[in-house]
Amino acid sequence: MVVASLKQKIMKEYVGDRMKAVIPAAGLGVRFLPLTKDMPKEMLPVVHKPTIQYVVEEAVSSGIKDILIITGRGKRSIEDHFDRSLELENVLGNNGRTEDLEEIIRIANMANIHYLRQKVPLGLGDAVLLARQHVGNEPFAVMLGDTINLSKVPVVKQLIDMHAELGGSIIAVEPVSRDKVQDYGIIKGTNISDNLYDIEDLVEKPSPEEAPSDMGITGTYVLSPRIFDCLERTPPGRGGEIQLTDALRLLSKEEKVYGLKFEGRRYDIGDKLGWLKTTMELALEDPELGPQLSEYLQLLMAQQR
Ligand code: UTP
Repeated sequence: MVVASLKQKIMKEYVGDRMKAVIPAAGLGVRFLPLTKDMPKEMLPVVHKPTIQYVVEEAVSSGIKDILIITGRGKRSIEDHFDRSLELENVLGNNGRTEDLEEIIRIANMANIHYLRQKVPLGLGDAVLLARQHVGNEPFAVMLGDTINLSKVPVVKQLIDMHAELGGSIIAVEPVSRDKVQDYGIIKGTNISDNLYDIEDLVEKPSPEEAPSDMGITGTYVLSPRIFDCLERTPPGRGGEIQLTDALRLLSKEEKVYGLKFEGRRYDIGDKLGWLKTTMELALEDPELGPQLSEYLQLLMAQQR
């Protein structure tokens, strides 16, 4: 018993240590125009830091050491954010702002980050396919550049651990209300346990009538490298884009694909209301800003009545 659980622990660490993460961040962010005309939505601030920093930090705290960010035109500020800035470091050092200095050096040294450009934003599936050469023939994680997960055990680590146990591909899912299913990829599957599904099929953005379940894909995945072959065979789908969900559909016919109802909270900053809600909620929880913001919001609400 002890030996078995020790073996499992070693296996999980081994898998986590070797795993690469791909963060697609090349989308146009049309729902955020005009703000995203020249600014990546992945750089939108959520309280103290840009959204994509939460994503990179989740990967790093899960043991991932190699990260590939898929960028595109107008996304240079993402690379600059994770780079050293000697000029700024000098100024902070000279002004005795040690804490700020340590923080910006920490960000630049967080992980081994690589970048690859998606020249035309042909969809999430196309962005993932571009990672093929970098990833090689190993399972890998995909984490959306506009989605923040907050949890005790990082969500991608929950998927990595499940992958170490079961193999195959693991997709993070959560229950969504019927009127929201058309915003999600929805799974059809059978329950293996309370929080685990054996996926038989997936549908991208179904109508409430067509939806095979209420379990929606949330944007964190651990995928078998076989997904690349499936992506190559995936024709453009909704909106003329190559949809990752369509390729997962093919994958689910050839290999095991599981859905994991993860523990934690997920925030999608991809549209204006989503970003506002995320910012408010996380700012209200912030020890420095929360109490004053709460007081201000209560005042504002009282004035509205
Ligand atoms: P979204 O569909 O939320 O991003 O993709 P989008 O296409 O930028 O959004 P709208 O509809 O135009 O407002 C989820 C993630 O996948 C990336 C996005 O940058 C985002 O982080 N993505 C999407 C790519 O990298 N390439 C693409 O072609 C599409």
